[in-house]
Amino acid sequence: MEAKESRTVEQIDRYLQEQAERFVSELQTLLRIPSVSADPAYRADVHRAAEFVRDQLAVAGLKAELVETEGNPIVYGEWCEAPGAPTAIVYGHYDVQPADPLDQWISPPFEPTIRDGKLYARGATDDKGQMFTHIKAVEAWMKTAGRLPVNVKFIIEGEEEVGSKNLERFLESQRERLKGDVAVISDTSQYAPGIPAITYGLRGILACEVTLHGPKQDLHSGVFGGSVANPVNILAGLIGKLHDDQGRVQIPGFYDDVVPLTEKERQQFAELPFDEAAYLQELGVPAAWGEAGYTTTERRWARPTCDVNGFFGGYQGEGPKTIIPSRATAKITCRLVPRQNAEQLTQALHDFLQANCPAGVRLEFKHWHGCDALVFDTESPYMTAARNAIATAFGVPPVFIREGGSIPVVATFREVLGLDTLLLGWGQNTDNLHSPNEHFSLADFHRGIRASAHLWHELSR
Ligand code: BES
Ligand code: MN
Ligand code: MN
Repeated sequence: MEAKESRTVEQIDRYLQEQAERFVSELQTLLRIPSVSADPAYRADVHRAAEFVRDQLAVAGLKAELVETEGNPIVYGEWCEAPGAPTAIVYGHYDVQPADPLDQWISPPFEPTIRDGKLYARGATDDKGQMFTHIKAVEAWMKTAGRLPVNVKFIIEGEEEVGSKNLERFLESQRERLKGDVAVISDTSQYAPGIPAITYGLRGILACEVTLHGPKQDLHSGVFGGSVANPVNILAGLIGKLHDDQGRVQIPGFYDDVVPLTEKERQQFAELPFDEAAYLQELGVPAAWGEAGYTTTERRWARPTCDVNGFFGGYQGEGPKTIIPSRATAKITCRLVPRQNAEQLTQALHDFLQANCPAGVRLEFKHWHGCDALVFDTESPYMTAARNAIATAFGVPPVFIREGGSIPVVATFREVLGLDTLLLGWGQNTDNLHSPNEHFSLADFHRGIRASAHLWHELSR
C-alpha cells in the first residue's frame, strides 16, 4: 500500500474509534422509529425513518434524496467523484418486521437498550444496524480524507420485509443513473461468533395465502356438524398433503428445475464447524426434521421447502366453543433454490391445493410476493476485496457460505442492472431477527463499520 493511502486508512481507523459512541446513539435514534412495513398503521413512522436515513446520508457527505413510490419511500444517495474507480451500489432496508409478540420482549422493541454489549431493539440487526455500518464508513472517509476511493450509490428501501414490490420499478426506471460494478449488502449473518462469512448464495421465496370458505357464518357444530364441510378440517388435510413422510414437498413439478448439490459443495458445507446437538438445543427442538437424504446445513441452504407461517380459523378465545367455523386461512411460503421459478411454482401450489380441495368449500388464493434464488461465483476480484477487508476488520478471514433466507433485490440487481452482489453479513443468526428480543452485538457493529471502510479501499485497488 502506498504510504499516503496507508496514512489515510490509519486516520479513518482513528476516526472510527473516536466517534464510536456517537454512531451507537445515532443508530438508537433510528431504532426508536417503529418503521413496520407490514402494518399500514405505521405509515408516518416509516416516512420518518426514511427522512432520518436521508439526513444521515447527507451528513456523511452524499447527495441524498427521498424517492416517493406507490408504497414506502426509497432513500437514494450518491457520491460519484472518483472517475475511473469502481462504483459500488450499496443496498439496505430501513423497514422492520412487526414486533409481536410484545409480551416476550425484555425491554420494549422500540426503546433500544444495551445489555451485555448488545443493542436490543426491533431492526437492530435486520437491517438498520447492519445498513448503518456503510453510512458510517462513508462518513469516516469523507470527514478524514474528504473523498472516497470508489464511487458509491446508496439505495435504502422501506419495503424489504413485504417483498420489495416497488423497488423493481425504481431500478428499471433509473437503469442509467444506477450503473455500477458490484452491489454490496449487509443483511445476512456471520457463520458463527468469531467466524465472519461471505454469503455466495440465497434462497428465493414465494409467499401466498389460502382461505377456504364454508358456511356463510359459524354454525352450531351439534346441530349442523357432519352435514357440511368444516373449512379448518379440510385445510388441515390440505396442509398435511404438502409433504410425504420423507419430508419431500408433494406439489407436482416442485423439484423439476432444482439444481442438485455438487459433491464439492456438499464437502465444503460438511467442512464447516457444526454442532448439531448444540444447534437443536439452541432452537429448543427435540430432534431435527427435513427432507430425507440431506444434512441440516444442506436442507437450510440448498434445498427447497414449503412451510405454513400462520394457520387460523374458528374460535381462538378461552374455553370451549362448539362451532363449525365459516372459514380457515393458511399463510404459506416456499423457499426456493437456483433454477426454480417463483411465479411458476406459485401457480403449481395453487393448482395442487385446488385439485385436492373437496366440493364442500370454496378456495380463495392470494399471491403476496416472490423472488428467485441466486448463487454467485466466489472467485471474482470483488470477492477477494471483500475477503481482505473482512480479514482486516475481524482479525480472521471469512468463510464462504450460503444462506436460507431471501433478499428479493439480489435477483433484481442481477436481472435489471446485471450486477453481482457481495453479501457481507455482520450479524449472527442468533440475533433473534424477526423474533422477540432482536439484538446486534456492538462489537459486530463496529467491526462491520471498519470492514466497510476497508472495503472501499480494497475495491479501489
Ligand atoms: N435480512 C433478511 C434475510 C436474511 C437473514 C438472509 C439472515 C440471510 C440470513 C431479510 O430482511 C428477510 O427477512 N427477508 C425475507 C424475505 C422477504 C421477501 C419477506 C425472508 O427471508 O423471509
Ligand atoms: Mn433484512
Ligand atoms: Mn428480515
